[in-house]
Amino acid sequence: MVMLVPRLATITYFSGRKGGTGKSTLAANQAIALSMALKTNVVLMDFGIDSTQTSSRLLGINPDRPGALDFMLGLVKDVNQVLVRSNVVPSVFVIPPGSLKSWDLWGSSISVNQAFNALRNLIITTSRITNAQVALIDLPASIDDVVVIPALINTNIINLVMDYANYADIVLAELDNSIVRPMMDKLKLNPIVNVILNKWLPGLDAVEAKARAFAHNGEVFVLPTSPIVQYLTSTLKPIVLYEPKGSLERFVKEFNRMNNELTKQVKALLGFQ
Ligand SMILES: Nc1ncnc2c1ncn2[C@@H]1O[C@H](COP(=O)(O)OP(=O)(O)O)[C@@H](O)[C@H]1O
Ligand SMILES: [Mg+2]
Repeated sequence: MVMLVPRLATITYFSGRKGGTGKSTLAANQAIALSMALKTNVVLMDFGIDSTQTSSRLLGINPDRPGALDFMLGLVKDVNQVLVRSNVVPSVFVIPPGSLKSWDLWGSSISVNQAFNALRNLIITTSRITNAQVALIDLPASIDDVVVIPALINTNIINLVMDYANYADIVLAELDNSIVRPMMDKLKLNPIVNVILNKWLPGLDAVEAKARAFAHNGEVFVLPTSPIVQYLTSTLKPIVLYEPKGSLERFVKEFNRMNNELTKQVKALLGFQ
């Protein structure tokens, strides 16, 4: 019997409308870490429209060039023009957000269906060109942006990235009701959904137990607050390239645990032994 398995796993970082939860920091560093763990090329698609384009910058890319949105709107037809190899880690490729803003998207009459097809085309073509087996999608803090739903529908592993806060379960319940469950029930999709509770501080109430209900076929990960993580990200340096000491050591311990688990999830999806 021939087993059909996808040759590409897509992992998306999503936080609903809440910004600053750590999506870009985690996506950029995980692009490097997963590329090393799986010994494969990785593509990171940065949809940080209207924002600081942190994940592109962390991988050494000046995002001031055509990118994902230019391709999705048909302004750039050749994927090679929006794809850049990271000069920090050569096994990582980046598609920066591009020169458009989200209001350019609303002005254009692109439908969800067209956006879905354009994004699918972008993912498949870039993975062929780069020979990448993993694509990471860094989403903006939005739920009604034209790219958000098409990206989630194209995704095998959804990482819901939340601030570690007492109200995290309320935010998670809303995303679960309005987005994750309709994807499963109406579209019959079966993504792995992990919950990442980022910026944990000592003394905060335990929210892991409540978060577990929203991790479908997936895990809950808790990452501590680390001033060194904030410093490195602010100075555009990938965490994984530095010797872990102090608060960075505590962060990296949990980050690595999460990475091992994600690596297993990807291997299972791709049918690795
Ligand atoms: N675990 C952490 N500890 C401390 N600071 C963090 C941590 N994770 C992220 N940050 C900081 O939070 C800010 C927002 O992160 P970012 O990745 O840009 O979030 P998002 O992409 O979700 O908007 C950045 O300054 C980043 O350095
Ligand atoms: Mg971001």
